[in-house]
Amino acid sequence: MVVLVRVLVACAKFRCPAANLLLSASTSRVRAQPGGPLLRQRTSKVSLRSIAMSTTQASEAAADKGLPLAVDATMIDEYASQSKLLQEFVKIPTIGKAWIFNSKDDDMSKAVVSIGKSDLLANKRRQFLLNTHISKSPSKSVDFQWSPFPTEISGVSAIVPSPSGEKLLLVRNSEDDSPTKLEIWGPCQLENEIHIAKSVHGSLYTDEWFEGISWNQEETFIAYVAEEPPQPKPVFNDYGFKKEGLSEKDCKSWKGQGDWEETWGETYSKKRIPALFVINISSGEVRPVKQIPRSLSVGQVIWAPSSSYSLVFVAWSSDNGFQGTPRKLGIKYCYNRPCALYAAPDPFGQEAEKSLTEGNKGETTTMIKLTANLSSAFFPRFSPDGKYLVFISAKSAVDSGAHNATNSLHRIEWCTDGKLDGSLGVADVVPIVLCPKDNCFPGLYCFGLLRDPWLTDGQTMIISSVWGSREVILSVNVVSCELSRVSPQDSDYSWNVLAVDKNNILAVSSSLITLPQMYYGIKVSQTESNWEWQGVSTPFPKPSDKISSVLAEHKFSILKIPISNPSDELANGAKLPFEAIFVSHKDSASNPTIVVLHGGPHSVYPSSYSKSLAFLFSQGYNLLVVNYRGSLGFGEEALQSLPGNIGSQDVNDVLTALDLVIKRGLIDPSRVAVVGGSHGGFLTTHLIGQAPDTFVAAAARNPVCNLSLMVGTSDIPDWCFVEIYGKEGKKYFSESPSVDDLCQFHQKSPISHIAKVKTPTLFLLGAQDLRVPVSNGLQYARALKERGIETKTIVFPEDIHGIDKPQSDFESFLNIGVWFKKHMGK
Ligand SMILES: *[C@@H]1O[C@H](CO)[C@@H](O)[C@H](O)[C@H]1NC(C)=O
Ligand SMILES: *[C@@H]1O[C@H](CO)[C@@H](O)[C@H](O)[C@H]1NC(C)=O
Ligand SMILES: *[C@@H]1O[C@H](CO)[C@@H](O)[C@H](O)[C@H]1NC(C)=O
Ligand SMILES: *[C@@H]1O[C@H](CO)[C@@H](O)[C@H](O)[C@H]1NC(C)=O
Repeated sequence: MVVLVRVLVACAKFRCPAANLLLSASTSRVRAQPGGPLLRQRTSKVSLRSIAMSTTQASEAAADKGLPLAVDATMIDEYASQSKLLQEFVKIPTIGKAWIFNSKDDDMSKAVVSIGKSDLLANKRRQFLLNTHISKSPSKSVDFQWSPFPTEISGVSAIVPSPSGEKLLLVRNSEDDSPTKLEIWGPCQLENEIHIAKSVHGSLYTDEWFEGISWNQEETFIAYVAEEPPQPKPVFNDYGFKKEGLSEKDCKSWKGQGDWEETWGETYSKKRIPALFVINISSGEVRPVKQIPRSLSVGQVIWAPSSSYSLVFVAWSSDNGFQGTPRKLGIKYCYNRPCALYAAPDPFGQEAEKSLTEGNKGETTTMIKLTANLSSAFFPRFSPDGKYLVFISAKSAVDSGAHNATNSLHRIEWCTDGKLDGSLGVADVVPIVLCPKDNCFPGLYCFGLLRDPWLTDGQTMIISSVWGSREVILSVNVVSCELSRVSPQDSDYSWNVLAVDKNNILAVSSSLITLPQMYYGIKVSQTESNWEWQGVSTPFPKPSDKISSVLAEHKFSILKIPISNPSDELANGAKLPFEAIFVSHKDSASNPTIVVLHGGPHSVYPSSYSKSLAFLFSQGYNLLVVNYRGSLGFGEEALQSLPGNIGSQDVNDVLTALDLVIKRGLIDPSRVAVVGGSHGGFLTTHLIGQAPDTFVAAAARNPVCNLSLMVGTSDIPDWCFVEIYGKEGKKYFSESPSVDDLCQFHQKSPISHIAKVKTPTLFLLGAQDLRVPVSNGLQYARALKERGIETKTIVFPEDIHGIDKPQSDFESFLNIGVWFKKHMGK
């Protein structure tokens, strides 16, 4: 049997036309598997290729040899050699955050850089800190002197230096019922360690969404966002319900569940509501910030820059449901959830108490909405002089219902006298760009903002954004509204800012074929935006010779793809070319090609280094990474052209990009595979159905395959409505879709094309995924199997949508590599 399998694999490899012939066959087999249940397989119409290599046979062959079920008997050597190389990729450390500490000496500063590394055996990520001195000589050359060894930081969820840089806060969240710990470090010792019981609050949020941890200017208080304390539950004993609740001495009683509480979905399913707290560092006293309604989820708190104890924070409303009814929807990756900036001028309610004891039930304002006229406002930052409150808005995402869209940047002139009455005007600094002209600025796409993004003029911010298929660094003057590109203009590499050092920038640059490298940017002229970038020598270990040579053997380019058949109805911005990144071997033009598709759909594959993609091209493949219309970085009209047209416009864009590389003779059209996750998995499964002769292999990670199933099971049912109906879908969105809706969803789903599929497909699914629940991928995989198409399915029991636990990530990409090798050869 093993021999038979080999022969037919060889046949499939060379795409013998006979292998694609449909045969009418009816087989019925019952076989006992060692250690497994009885397995019955009945197939009616089956292709020769799939008889030869059906998953069942491959795993039976494996089992015959005593191999684990995951390993295909014909691919053992491949599995072994690819896993070795993938481990080398996994070993490469990643650059995380950086903090800069200024000294009085203008030509000296100190920096701390965090380095991450996957520990496959422990299935977790480890974090190290590395210190360095940065010294600038008059000739403008910069020298980095690194400490001899890094220090491992374990069990730390957040690191926050104080404004003076003389203290450091380490947050240690606990995973069990033990208290949360806040450690305050001085230059050479632990100055203070505060334990906060779980009855006061749960873990601090450190998720870069609700996360907010802020020292006040005097360094006496820290405001932060943590999970509210557990809500009381009903208590029962032998006599029934106990009205007085649970007391310490109670035995013979138990706690009930109480009402189910909605959460923010994917990655937040075990989190309680985020709430605001302030700690007095010297006394260790923790106070909740009062009078914030539980219908608001708060985050991103900062202190206002005056001697009064005012806080500014973001609050997300829970009313995301049908026509604004109460319903939390998934928020991870979703920028379309309404939110606003608020100020709490009296966070402890002291003024309120005072006026109560003084007998006047006075109206004390506890919370002031600062951005009442905007549907979205987040990432608040004060200018160093306290004159401006600057923030990002995703109002276009909120208003259109698209889960990501072009951002805008705004400014509020802050009242330095501390008086707040909500009448502060909001000015635009960077508006939304609808249709970028001649490769000019496409608009702002900002997913993080430095704690201190300011140059020394106190008006210029340094921001990372997306510009076409590149990540770029921008400078924005918030007063004059001037914007310029700070990272090299002529580069296809991606750049990200790590920290601002007075008027200089510590950044990291990489490409799909270049490992991340640190750079130090110096502003050459004070007037123009003219920056000089010097490479920073770091003590990071060199990658293995194998990896260095694989990367050096490849090249990449960013292709402009003109759209096919533009209709007159399209907005001008949607008629512009989109982009695809093409990675290929420098000498070997005949390699097979993998089409790589991002999720979202309103996301992007930038040109930056990706371990997984580097591993794939290192197996001897070209990559065609398509940023189809709807991706971030191309202006708002191009982005908004996709909702209402998914499953057609995006599918056609991918095929147009593929046609272009075929017409230019860059790839062999007979050996093309496709891989994608989430919406990229939606496209993958659509493509193998709509273009059944184009792809010889496919791999889908948590794919959307059946929207009529997804709508009732996902944490973002609104996504189905908006992406199928466009803007209008925001109005239709309901928890009880009509039969017409379900028909629409079904028609536009990959499952409606399943009868045409011939491509062997690998499925990688996270059993805990709330975004695209595992039922979507499983159902589609079973439907392919019953049609006799070869499939392989791996379900990761503990993984969520991202499948990013180190071992799961490793096993996913290893299997993708082996699957493509099996079906496409090299
Ligand atoms: C903070 O704690 C210190 C030490 O217990 C105390 O002297 C100070 O008054 C507290 N500050 C406030 C505003 O409660
Ligand atoms: C909000 O909009 C209303 C109506 O357009 C306007 O009257 C009001 O002044 C605006 N408020 C602020 C704070 O901009
Ligand atoms: C929004 O964009 C960010 C950054 O690219 C991405 O991580 C996220 O997945 C996107 N979300 C959606 C729903 O497209
Ligand atoms: C798609 O999902 C719907 C709703 O759960 C279900 O009724 C249908 O059977 C699914 N599959 C197909 C092939 O339509």
